[in-house]
Amino acid sequence: MLEEKTNDGRALKGECGVGHTRWATHGEPSEVNAHPHCSDDMNVIGVHNGIIENYQELKEKMIRKGYSFYSQTDTEVLIKTVDYYYKKYRMGPIDALAKTMVRVRGSYALAVMFKDYPGEIYAARKDSPMIIGVSEGESYLASDVPAILQYCRSVYYIGNLEMAKLSAGEAVFYNIDGDEIKKPLTEITWDAEAAEKGGYEHFMMKEIHEQPRAVRDTLGSAIHDGAIDLAAAGLTHEVMRGVTQLHFVACGSAYHVCMAAKYIIEDLARLPVQVDLDSEFRYRKPILRSDELVVIISQSGETADSLAALREAKAQGVPTLGIVNVVGSSIAREADNVFYTLAGPEIAVATTKAYSTQLAACYLIAVQLAKARETIDSERYAALIAELEALPEKIARALEDKERLQWFASKYAGVHDVFFLGRGLDYAVALEGSLKMKEISYIHSEAYAAGELKHGTISLIENGTLVISIATQTALYEKMVSNMVEVKARGGYLMGLTSSGHYSMEDTADFTVYVPVTDEHFMASLAVVPLQLMGYYISMARGLDVDKPRNLAKSVTVE
Ligand code: AGP
Repeated sequence: MLEEKTNDGRALKGECGVGHTRWATHGEPSEVNAHPHCSDDMNVIGVHNGIIENYQELKEKMIRKGYSFYSQTDTEVLIKTVDYYYKKYRMGPIDALAKTMVRVRGSYALAVMFKDYPGEIYAARKDSPMIIGVSEGESYLASDVPAILQYCRSVYYIGNLEMAKLSAGEAVFYNIDGDEIKKPLTEITWDAEAAEKGGYEHFMMKEIHEQPRAVRDTLGSAIHDGAIDLAAAGLTHEVMRGVTQLHFVACGSAYHVCMAAKYIIEDLARLPVQVDLDSEFRYRKPILRSDELVVIISQSGETADSLAALREAKAQGVPTLGIVNVVGSSIAREADNVFYTLAGPEIAVATTKAYSTQLAACYLIAVQLAKARETIDSERYAALIAELEALPEKIARALEDKERLQWFASKYAGVHDVFFLGRGLDYAVALEGSLKMKEISYIHSEAYAAGELKHGTISLIENGTLVISIATQTALYEKMVSNMVEVKARGGYLMGLTSSGHYSMEDTADFTVYVPVTDEHFMASLAVVPLQLMGYYISMARGLDVDKPRNLAKSVTVE
């Protein structure tokens, strides 16, 4: 497609250029938003991977300086900011990049070319991945190793807030003060397939580890200067005060996020929340009112049942909001408003980072609803936002328990049935843990509201049955422990999953996993991590195709 478009005889000849298959965050996938972007006089041209958080403020400044804009991207703003500083100070490309880095907030892997410096590419990096490769007479820049592995195996890892000048076969590095710095050259021994997964054996494990960054980017897209702003998703103060009920609808893991959202929003904002599976919602003739809001959660934005539920809501004249990961997808385009999760491309069929960013989106909505409806005071609002900003680092800490979980998983890889128990928000987590287990290890598993066990299912518990109990909610902790004792009395083998501090769990559970503590409304983001790892390791132990489990598709675009 691109090759056909550019190979029509008009293509420019040359040995130096930049290109980017962008993962859209600002501005949907379209020709006008495609990279590279350039200054008005083509003096500076470039590509960027990442998110410029203050691009709106910069754009307004550039317009005041006489710049015009043709796209909706933050990248165009970034390129024109570089051009502005290049022209204003006339100190060359590195100085223009340094001044831009000081002014810009967000994440970027930026590669630019200047008309006055042919045959050279200039780079700047903050948070977004970037590597630079060199070989005989050639140099390359990319987000990660697989993109250039067929051309060169000697790479530099450029650091945060560092810059580089690439020319034929050479790369020179600079710090933000513009001083030249030396970087070690690394020889890549990976093969292309291994490298594409960033060194992880499977995309799922790579994506599990991307969760801290994905959640940080998603939260950061709406938290500015200590306050949440969801106006871009249509959730203004007035809307949040006026809405009388929310309907959360989705499928699969996204449905489990809806379940969590119900507990969190009803507790924090005291607003009624109904939750439906899309495949049920679309046929049950739901009774909706125009002063309600239907929220459709979907990673792909293409799930047929979710799209149908959206259309049912719109047919009834009810406002709709899509929480979607793929920019420009059908649900994103058809919903009245959209909130984009910033998980980035999710390759593994079993969702992990997208699920976590959907949870993050629901936290933002819940906290902002509570503020708008004055069910929390400004002190609690600030405290909740502080907890959200600390969440990515706690997710990263929850990842550290891998070895113990791998040991436990290998011990139980042969089981035939697993039960996941939880109460309240932990029940929503149990649903997700059970689905992760089912869909990638093919072991039959069920999630139960722990209080429901005695109404039939407990008859299935026998000697050695694996029961995973999630107990992070202090108000329900003792009841959960009682349920665990009931299971143990019938021979069940208990894994307890709780937050640090609930050390009495070890008196009842046979194997205990602790996750860091955060505000209990946000504990699902931490409790889910060991369950994702458990599913992964058991699937591995059973020699299954973790990334592409049998009978499943990444997006179910048919009924
Ligand atoms: C979860 O691991 C599965 N891949 C599946 O349940 C998925 O969550 C569901 O199909 C919904 O997909 P969507 O988020 O793209 O709409």
